[in-house]
Amino acid sequence: MAFDAAYRCSECGREYSFAEPIYICPEDGANLDVVFDYQALGQAASPASIGSSTEASIWRYLPLLPVSDPGHFGTALRAVGMTPLLGPPALRQALDLPDLWVKDDGRNPTASFKDRASAVVVRRAEEIQASIVVTASTGNAGAALAGMGAAAGMPTVILAPKTAPRAKVAQLLMFGARVILVDGTYDDAFDLSVQASSTFGWYCRNTGYNPFTAEGKKTGAFEICEQLSLFAGSSSTTTWKAPDVVFVSVGDGNIISGLHKGFVDLHALGWIAKIPRLIGVQARGSSAIYNAFATGSDTIEPVKADTLADSISVDLPRDGLRALRAAHQTGGAYVQVDDEDILAAMRQLGRQAAVFAEPAGATAQAGLLQALEAGLVTPDEQIVVIVTGSGLKDVDAAMQATGEAQVIEPNLDALSEVVEHS
Ligand SMILES: Cc1ncc(COP(=O)(O)O)c(C=O)c1O
Ligand SMILES: [Zn+2]
Repeated sequence: MAFDAAYRCSECGREYSFAEPIYICPEDGANLDVVFDYQALGQAASPASIGSSTEASIWRYLPLLPVSDPGHFGTALRAVGMTPLLGPPALRQALDLPDLWVKDDGRNPTASFKDRASAVVVRRAEEIQASIVVTASTGNAGAALAGMGAAAGMPTVILAPKTAPRAKVAQLLMFGARVILVDGTYDDAFDLSVQASSTFGWYCRNTGYNPFTAEGKKTGAFEICEQLSLFAGSSSTTTWKAPDVVFVSVGDGNIISGLHKGFVDLHALGWIAKIPRLIGVQARGSSAIYNAFATGSDTIEPVKADTLADSISVDLPRDGLRALRAAHQTGGAYVQVDDEDILAAMRQLGRQAAVFAEPAGATAQAGLLQALEAGLVTPDEQIVVIVTGSGLKDVDAAMQATGEAQVIEPNLDALSEVVEHS
């Protein structure tokens, strides 16, 4: 970072220095945006300078991030991001969408989009000389923090609901985090982690609370624009290419807010000509932000969350207002999908794109199908679906989508029998 940055409250607009030890606006409790001096930033970096970077990770965007060089070469912390942007022919053909792209963020070091946030937060924790970082998590944010903590040698404490899928809990334990499972919901874990942070002096990474998470997540927007520009064969040294529409699953609303911030940053710098429409997709059983969008409300009423997509099962979204704005300000929308649609989208991504998604990861794809039906997108548009997490994190849900495999006696008769009847 070659310039000064500050916090600005996303509701009242008050500004605060980075030196202040705050997470949310002390006046009204709203989320804080990180604001940059875009002029200074434009002088420090360009699409050409970033394009010539040999860093195949989010750290190629370091000039646009509010932290200093993290070091830790050769670790997982430097392997976050630069995930594949796929253009799967079978999926494009099945949906008659010739310019459809799938960003597979399950290919991050701990297998979810959350690595982007956790890598930046761990760097920030080092800068302020935090001794321990804590987070509440439905599983992925915790796995990402635990993994990035392990990479950087930063101790971490994770509070997750005891119902979190086993593979996610295994990840937390494997990375050596202090893992505490809460006999309650994610929202209970969230409140407890905020109390723990202030009581024990731990640095808190919570999604939709720590302003640096959205800053890490904005790298997803940067990559989409840089990759699309590369694929289009662009030789411009001053611009990248933004898609028409981006679909993303939404729980707390911090990924969509972070992506929005990323596109806004690039647009303010003049590096992209337009900001894509952002379409947030929620599970019907956890749709507080969708409800506000659908009723034209500018307040978010909590729900009693119940969906198989555990990563987006949230009663009260902690970044709801910015997430709502991300759709409103870009001409986007919110849609909600049933758990059955999510299971179908998991199968479709597996079979037609070779992408193994966890339920919350496939939720964006389910939203695309619904948006197509509702006429929110058209076949000529350039569309990006972000798959936010890997299916390996929740094998039970994957088997729910596919059904069990057949078991036979080990002889040819038995095999012939099933082959003939399939
Ligand atoms: C795989 C996956 N997708 C989507 C989300 C939703 O992100 P957010 O809560 O920031 O809306 C999460 C959050 O945990 C996640 O883990
Ligand atoms: Zn405020």
